[in-house]
Amino acid sequence: MQIITEPGQMQTIAEKLRLNRQCIGVVMTMGALHEGHLSLVKLAQKTAGIVILTIFVNPSQFAEHEDLHKYPRPFENDAALAKAAGVDFLFAPEAESIYPENYQTTVTCSAVAKRFEGEMRPDHFKGVATIVTKLFNITKPHIAVFGEKDAQQLAVIRRLVEDLNMPIKIVEAPIVREKNGLAVSSRNIYLSIQERDAAAILYKGICHAKMRVAEEDNNLQNIAQEIEEMINATPGCRSDYVSFVDETRFEPVETAEKGREYRLLLAMYSGTVRLIDNGKIRA
Ligand code: PAF
Repeated sequence: MQIITEPGQMQTIAEKLRLNRQCIGVVMTMGALHEGHLSLVKLAQKTAGIVILTIFVNPSQFAEHEDLHKYPRPFENDAALAKAAGVDFLFAPEAESIYPENYQTTVTCSAVAKRFEGEMRPDHFKGVATIVTKLFNITKPHIAVFGEKDAQQLAVIRRLVEDLNMPIKIVEAPIVREKNGLAVSSRNIYLSIQERDAAAILYKGICHAKMRVAEEDNNLQNIAQEIEEMINATPGCRSDYVSFVDETRFEPVETAEKGREYRLLLAMYSGTVRLIDNGKIRA
């Protein structure tokens, strides 16, 4: 595995790989690699001959009060995990080479980025869309794998690729869960044992929704409220939002139509740690 830190060098390598007719797959991360990231690498390896993993804690997607400075950066361990997983190139640039002095350009995505995480974290998706565009231009992938865990991010990236005519296939990787159902996330390390146990309520909420919809209850608004109550009744937990949305527009849906698929979005605090999760629900 080759470690690259310079955007220009990464671009030259990607260009050569393309000229040699290699299929490039990219997996973008902010590091602190876990089982979820490694499952993305595995999925990329199924389609692409060459896998580039990027590690970059992107400052522009964090708000002032968020955890940019304390975000875990275990680079040595990440590099060892990436190598063991069979990654071909690890691209880990410094912030200065991605956002040099006098950097001025951003990419924004409107409707799909407006609600939920977009409302809670106003400039977040602008930061994500900008860095993803830059990393696409640097790594020149044919395919890119993103986790379903960040479902709204995935919807924003799909929109971005379609709207800006980027010839990149976006592959969605299923959520990897811990034994108690908690979705794996780099931020889970902030949870105490009690908070981690309590956070399993998110997955219980998703299971509850599946059961209630299977009972032919089409009142999604009621079901979302039941889940909010379940979360708020769990010691140390506070619901932020629970809502069913249609997959592409990320607009709330109140009543289910038989045969259609929706996505249930959940965000809550376990202690002071904010967690998000989601599940696909077919009516
Ligand atoms: O999902 C993440 O880890 C980040 O938002 C991403 C896509 C790597 C962009 O910084």
